[in-house]
Amino acid sequence: MMQLNIPRGIIYHSLFQNFSSFVSALFKPLDNRKLVKKFERKFADYLGCKYGLAFPFARIAIYYSLKLKKYPAGTEIIMPPITIKAILDVVLDLGLKPVFVDIDRDTLGFDINKLASAITVNTKAILITYLYGMVPDLDPMIDLCKANHLYVIEDFSQCLNGEYKNKKVGSFGDVGVYSSSSIKTLDTYGGGLLVTNDTDLYHQLCEYQEELIAPSRSALIKKILINTIRNMATTRLIFHLFTFPLLKIVSSFKPQTYARNLGERDRTPIRQLPAAWFTRYTSLQAKVGLSLLSKVQYEDEVRIHNSNEIRESVAFMFPRGAKDTRNVFWQTIAYFSEPSAALKLLRNSKIDSATTSLVKISTLPKYSFMGHTPNADMVYENALFIPAYPGLSNQDIKHIIVTLNNIYQSQM
Ligand SMILES: Cc1ncc(COP(=O)(O)O)c(C=O)c1O
Repeated sequence: MMQLNIPRGIIYHSLFQNFSSFVSALFKPLDNRKLVKKFERKFADYLGCKYGLAFPFARIAIYYSLKLKKYPAGTEIIMPPITIKAILDVVLDLGLKPVFVDIDRDTLGFDINKLASAITVNTKAILITYLYGMVPDLDPMIDLCKANHLYVIEDFSQCLNGEYKNKKVGSFGDVGVYSSSSIKTLDTYGGGLLVTNDTDLYHQLCEYQEELIAPSRSALIKKILINTIRNMATTRLIFHLFTFPLLKIVSSFKPQTYARNLGERDRTPIRQLPAAWFTRYTSLQAKVGLSLLSKVQYEDEVRIHNSNEIRESVAFMFPRGAKDTRNVFWQTIAYFSEPSAALKLLRNSKIDSATTSLVKISTLPKYSFMGHTPNADMVYENALFIPAYPGLSNQDIKHIIVTLNNIYQSQM
């Protein structure tokens, strides 16, 4: 059978769901608080936590989780060197001092020795981030945090259903935050879903949630439209006939833009957090979340299976992972010694790929601090996405494995 071009990623919605969300967003009420509460409870149950709270973005859930602590200006918070820039912006808005700790190239979590030496008397909080759906060895990390009385926020936006010793990530710290933004495995057209077992924290966060302003219908419609366009563009036949050829044309003019997941994002500090970040999570999003919760696990299984098949056949190219973990491989990444040449070879073999679309926040030139994070630098520059999502056929997976082997031979 002819090999169709393979997209680098997918949207975890059917097109029918997209269209029905679009129609609902045009006409249905958005602010039914009871429905949002129902989803919050279901999501907390799903994670095995006592409480759940929905915010408009993960960055805002993180912002309030830190704000309630009323830390004095200059208090240090340990952060991952790679994540979205908005998280750095909310941390700086609160007057906190980010301290970047390098990651381990095999687990993508903090390097435990570097973490231990970064903690000072002024360190009060830590943001543990599970990159690309991989779970590090959490026992020593959490023990270290506890020994130093750190307030632990887990950002499991990329790792829903990831586990450590049979317990879901997001439930190890004081609060866990999941971003249900577009292209995530549970995608509710945006949202920051927070879970906690701490009754005091929960009540304080409820007060902050009350401060949020009414949701904007036009903003939600825009998000659904973008999601629908992405979904259509990555539908296999459309991708094969139109999207991939178009991407190739773009790449011949702007190779960097193509390589960075089609988004050179803004890299400058923001003066004030935008009001649009502080709107309530809508009941339409909650309804979508409720309907998607039941299918995430199945799709995870398929993706994990695909990912393991590819990883095992060319194991030396991939981060190895840690013991006692369930990695969900939201995005499977492989390391290449010459990533731009590898990207070309992948593309010539009908496989779309890119380097991460996240930002290396530890080395942003317009911010007044820099972190020394060589492993993160390597991940940022040398890791490429390898398609492994549900929907790939056996033929696709075999084709990906053969291509990776060829690239390895050519880069030896
Ligand atoms: C690690 C991580 N945190 C947070 C987010 C998104 O957060 P927000 O909901 O604020 O857009 C993402 C999105 O890609 C992410 O990868």
